[in-house]
Amino acid sequence: MFDKIGIAVVGAGYWGANYVRVFNELPDAEIVAVCDQRPERLAEINKRFPGTFVTHSLDTLLQLDDLDAVVVATGAATHFDLASRCIAGGKHVLVEKPLTTTPAQAERLIELADLHGVKLMVGHTFLHNPAIQTLRAYANGPEMGEVYYLYSRRTNLGPIRHDVNALWDLAPHDISIFNYLLGSTPQWVSAVAANVLKNQREDVGFISVGYAPNILGHIHVSWAEPNKVRELVVVGSNMRIVFDDLNTMERIRIFEKGISAIQPEVANFGEFQYQMRDGNILSPRVDSAEPLKNQCRHFINCIVHNQTPRTDGQSGLEVVRAMDAIDRSIQRRGAPVFLEEIIYDNATLALVAA
Ligand SMILES: NC(=O)c1ccc[n+]([C@@H]2O[C@H](COP(=O)([O-])OP(=O)(O)OC[C@H]3O[C@@H](n4cnc5c(N)ncnc54)[C@H](O)[C@@H]3O)[C@@H](O)[C@H]2O)c1
Repeated sequence: MFDKIGIAVVGAGYWGANYVRVFNELPDAEIVAVCDQRPERLAEINKRFPGTFVTHSLDTLLQLDDLDAVVVATGAATHFDLASRCIAGGKHVLVEKPLTTTPAQAERLIELADLHGVKLMVGHTFLHNPAIQTLRAYANGPEMGEVYYLYSRRTNLGPIRHDVNALWDLAPHDISIFNYLLGSTPQWVSAVAANVLKNQREDVGFISVGYAPNILGHIHVSWAEPNKVRELVVVGSNMRIVFDDLNTMERIRIFEKGISAIQPEVANFGEFQYQMRDGNILSPRVDSAEPLKNQCRHFINCIVHNQTPRTDGQSGLEVVRAMDAIDRSIQRRGAPVFLEEIIYDNATLALVAA
């Protein structure tokens, strides 16, 4: 038996409040504090969860005796500073996506977590989503055939963030899912983006991404489209699988249809023949468990049983590297950027307390 894991949530905005609710519902966890710079958010937490200790000070929070782990659910630009202070204070940390805003920062968090012997996990929530688990099982199953390509769309009217652009806000979800489905990381990216709303940051983006051996991915994100879409499609030689996060009745649909090339016969002058497949349309049962609750339960289990999180610091770093490469490609108007060729300048990173 173990005592409950004492959790604090830093950043009690829209998403942080969900963490407070979910950890309150888990029997092995206890919310010991909530921290936010905005008094109105702390007042809201006290209203929804009476008796919760709230503070605007991270230092006060890190002094609490019964604190084991911290969730960092603030805006992306603050993740590195807050997470590194929590790790240096000896706390396990679950950081929301994107883990950091530069690869050097993500590498430093991984080093710090190793040094202090604490867990570092990133909130790639879709990897704890039962529908994505189902999609992955089919996409990697014998019925799929060869995976040809995959694409996703994440569009809506906002919500507009003020510290990162729409690509950094939304595409980490898709990159993390693509990496997870394919079991690899991008070789290259090519991206273009626009600032149609005329604020400081890009609000629309089109990203192409290449995986070995020759699998193409595409991601479209937008804060400026009056049509909310949360869809990811995997196309293979035998099947097309659709994940529609807004379709609560049929989150996954499988079209048992496809086309593949048949090895040409010599007599055929090297011309490929094509074989069509036509089958059923299925919507498999998907477990209805809340992804965020699965993620929080996984975090607790990793702490208690000393296991590596499915979405560990390394997987967070891989997504940040892809996002950094996407920035570089946007600066070059869509020219491909090969991740292996990037030379990272870690020297510019301000060192935090070890
Ligand atoms: N995994 C997901 O599905 C998912 C969904 C939504 C948001 N997110 C992520 O969660 C994070 C928060 O998003 P949100 O929509 O809740 O944003 P939000 O703006 O509603 O909330 C952020 C909160 O952090 C507080 N804050 C900022 N700096 C702070 C500091 N130094 N100390 C204490 N509090 C501070 C702000 O006052 C604000 O209340 C982002 O990183 C976002 O990418 C993830």
